[in-house]
Amino acid sequence: MAIEDKIKELLQKREEARMGGGEKRIESQHAKGKLTARERLDLLLDEGSFEEFDMFVSHRCIDFGLENEAYLSDGVVTGYGTIDGRLVYVFSQDFTVFGGSLSEMYAAKICKIMDMAMKAGAPVIGLNDSGGARIQEGVKSLGGYADIFERNILASGVIPQISGVFGPCAGGAVYSPAITDFILMTKETSYMFVTGPKVVKSVTNEDVTTEELGGSSIHTSKSGVAHFACESDEEQIMLIRKLFSFLPQNNMEEPPRLEVSDPIDRLEDALNYIIPENANKPYDVKDVIHAVVDNGEFLEVHRSYAPNIIVGFARFNGQSVGIVANQPSYLAGVLDISASRKGARFIRFCDAFNIPIVTLVDVPGFLPGTAQEYGGIIIHGAKLLFAYGEATVPKVTIILRKAYGGAYDVMGSKHLRGDINYAWPTAEIAVMGPRGAIEVLYGRELSKKDAEARAQFITMMEDEYRNKFATPYVAAKYGYIDDVIEPRNTRFRIIRALQSLSTKRDSLPMKKHGNIPL
Ligand code: HXC
Repeated sequence: MAIEDKIKELLQKREEARMGGGEKRIESQHAKGKLTARERLDLLLDEGSFEEFDMFVSHRCIDFGLENEAYLSDGVVTGYGTIDGRLVYVFSQDFTVFGGSLSEMYAAKICKIMDMAMKAGAPVIGLNDSGGARIQEGVKSLGGYADIFERNILASGVIPQISGVFGPCAGGAVYSPAITDFILMTKETSYMFVTGPKVVKSVTNEDVTTEELGGSSIHTSKSGVAHFACESDEEQIMLIRKLFSFLPQNNMEEPPRLEVSDPIDRLEDALNYIIPENANKPYDVKDVIHAVVDNGEFLEVHRSYAPNIIVGFARFNGQSVGIVANQPSYLAGVLDISASRKGARFIRFCDAFNIPIVTLVDVPGFLPGTAQEYGGIIIHGAKLLFAYGEATVPKVTIILRKAYGGAYDVMGSKHLRGDINYAWPTAEIAVMGPRGAIEVLYGRELSKKDAEARAQFITMMEDEYRNKFATPYVAAKYGYIDDVIEPRNTRFRIIRALQSLSTKRDSLPMKKHGNIPL
């Protein structure tokens, strides 16, 4: 064959691979409002940067008629490319080929790029759209999944792993995204569950739709499995690019630093007045976050799940930072099971990837009640304090208002290796809130009084308690906080603190791994 013909053959094969499961199935994908695997990669990666591997791979199955049906690439597109010039390894599942189902060779393709990503110290982004294990391949497919899981596990904490879910992600297939650091979903067209509605019906007799069982709204608000819900595939891909911009390439590197025009000493006078005079009145802590970070830009993670704690990424003087903040405008910012899990996971991610943590504290304590106790708030609350206490990245904490009880300890306190701890003059740092304290300290006296006298006594003692204990100055007296700062200076003080901590070195005792209360 002449070279021209050989090249023609190559180009033909490439074209065949690019067509996946064929024109009709691509049309049906588009009709569902979904992009194809390759279209997603085109949007995700910098133009012209994609280098594809294993285009000519196809399955080796000879059962159930598959010996007569094969497609080049075998249902997953893999390779590497760049996002804003930074190397990233990718796989994108192609629903047009056997419903994106995973075969032995398909798994091998994913494993190959994961191994290369680990060697290169580059993140892996997986775009999921798959009917799960390829039924015709049986146990080979199951083995393929587990091969991927193992790589996900070994890569955890070494390279960032991001999962985009664009279609079905069901059965054991959900566990690969679950091990990765972030899950994004497209509204309406994506879903995740261990067993689908039909199995649910037959086992528990529950009637439930796909959306109700595992749609994006469920996973971003109720279960907390997914971190972001997006309106469309396009929006999701843009969000992956944005999220990626805050992350380092691997656990040995720092996140990229951006040039900023926002002055580091920008004063925010409004912050001096943001805390309401009445200690029981809420305010939105996101107003504080937006006021202090570079250009007011905050990428909130897990926005709809446990909104009593806010977590997300922002920058201070161009440096990527993880923010953890109690949210007084939702359940008074109380710590419950979901908030503790959410905060802990985020802190551990930041710590694994050299992202400093800035904590804004306004917390009345842990949520009381049987629902919380039976659900294991002891174990889950411990996760949050474990995560803070273990984290060796720079930690800067600002107490805005309440820091009561165990929640004072947990939320990035000095005692859990907080590096720089400031408080606003409005801070109330004490064992418990005034009312609870009075009722415990003066219980016997109170029991002798009638209702009116009781109320009068409580109000009087509350004022005294608040003036004496619910201030930042007792903690400041003992050095538990390093300074009481004027709220409008907060941005500058955080940036200075982070600058001073840029050379921080801290470590944990040698061990195989800790035993975080799971
Ligand atoms: C082989 C599959 C497949 C699968 C879909 N297809 N899933 N082929 N193995 N798992 C094929 C279909 O035959 C069809 O082929 C094409 O993909 C599109 O599927 P449709 O059913 O027409 O699409 P749709 O109506 O959109 O439904 C999508 C679906 C459904 C909900 C994903 O296909 C489905 O329920 N599939 C089975 C899901 C499942 O039970 N998977 C195993 C889970 S257990 P044609 O030729 O018509 O285009 C599992 C274990 C993993 O994954 C364990 C890891 C530890």
